[in-house]
Amino acid sequence: MPKGALMAGKRGIVTGVANHQSIAWGIASQLAAQGAEMAFLHLPGMERRVEPLAESLGVKVLAPADVTDDASMDAAFETVKRAFGQIDFFVHSIAFANKDELKGSFVDNTTREGFLRAMDISAFSFVDCARRAAALMPETGGSIITMTFMGSERAFPNYNTMGVAKAALEAAVRYAARDLGPRGIRVNAVSPGAVRTLSLAGITGGRGMLAKGRSLSAMKQNASMEGVAGCSLWLLSDLGMSTTGEVVHVDAGFHIMGFAEDAAEAG
Ligand SMILES: NC(=O)c1ccc[n+]([C@@H]2O[C@H](COP(=O)([O-])OP(=O)(O)OC[C@H]3O[C@@H](n4cnc5c(N)ncnc54)[C@H](O)[C@@H]3O)[C@@H](O)[C@H]2O)c1
Repeated sequence: MPKGALMAGKRGIVTGVANHQSIAWGIASQLAAQGAEMAFLHLPGMERRVEPLAESLGVKVLAPADVTDDASMDAAFETVKRAFGQIDFFVHSIAFANKDELKGSFVDNTTREGFLRAMDISAFSFVDCARRAAALMPETGGSIITMTFMGSERAFPNYNTMGVAKAALEAAVRYAARDLGPRGIRVNAVSPGAVRTLSLAGITGGRGMLAKGRSLSAMKQNASMEGVAGCSLWLLSDLGMSTTGEVVHVDAGFHIMGFAEDAAEAG
């Protein structure tokens, strides 16, 4: 995407950059190209990976933040408040489930501990972040986005507990949109098709999801990082001014297909 000034004068927070394959990195790169100023909140211990990436985009505000640890979240948001005062946008791009929860039988393999951990990191963290981000947004409003997956709507092999967490996340988007709408704060979810990242590698058969997603999509492609970031940019910028509470699929038309193969292919 060419450089522009869509986000000129806007400041915000991007979470979830772990490496150059992260969806958050794709979004941050396009935000920077459009003139946004950003702070990165990253999982503690990721400094060596995240610092050079931040530097390459001119991101000067970095803070460790574990979404399961209130003290680290308090400190991270305080760092951003001191640096920026107010923010205009927030990107939530965080999910986690134990590897053992992401394989085989959902009914047999889901534990109380694993279920609650996936819910905490992948769904509750969004509610907590939305509350903290909204408190830093001006009277003129702002925009908050999160990343979900269609495993919230349909039962995919191995996605299991994460699918349930994504369903909760999408419901949380609608409730937050309802709460924060009167303040001019929009809240939306982007639902990418499978993209090759660390998170995808954590799902048993993740590579298979890429191949199936490609062959069963309307466009016979996987979602591109640029496409996911482009949709995010629309929702984060003033172009998305009348859109809130939505789950926008960016999956090359995977979710709209009835019979995925044409009659000739299907036989
Ligand atoms: N890759 C895909 O195919 C795909 C498709 C649809 C949606 N998503 C979603 O996109 C989002 C980003 O995932 P990704 O694919 O870029 O992988 P990723 O592994 O690069 O990003 C996940 C991020 O979550 C962070 N994280 C995990 N636990 C955390 C914690 N306790 N505190 C703070 N941060 C924590 C990690 O540090 C990492 O930066 C996730 O919500 C994922 O479910 C991914």
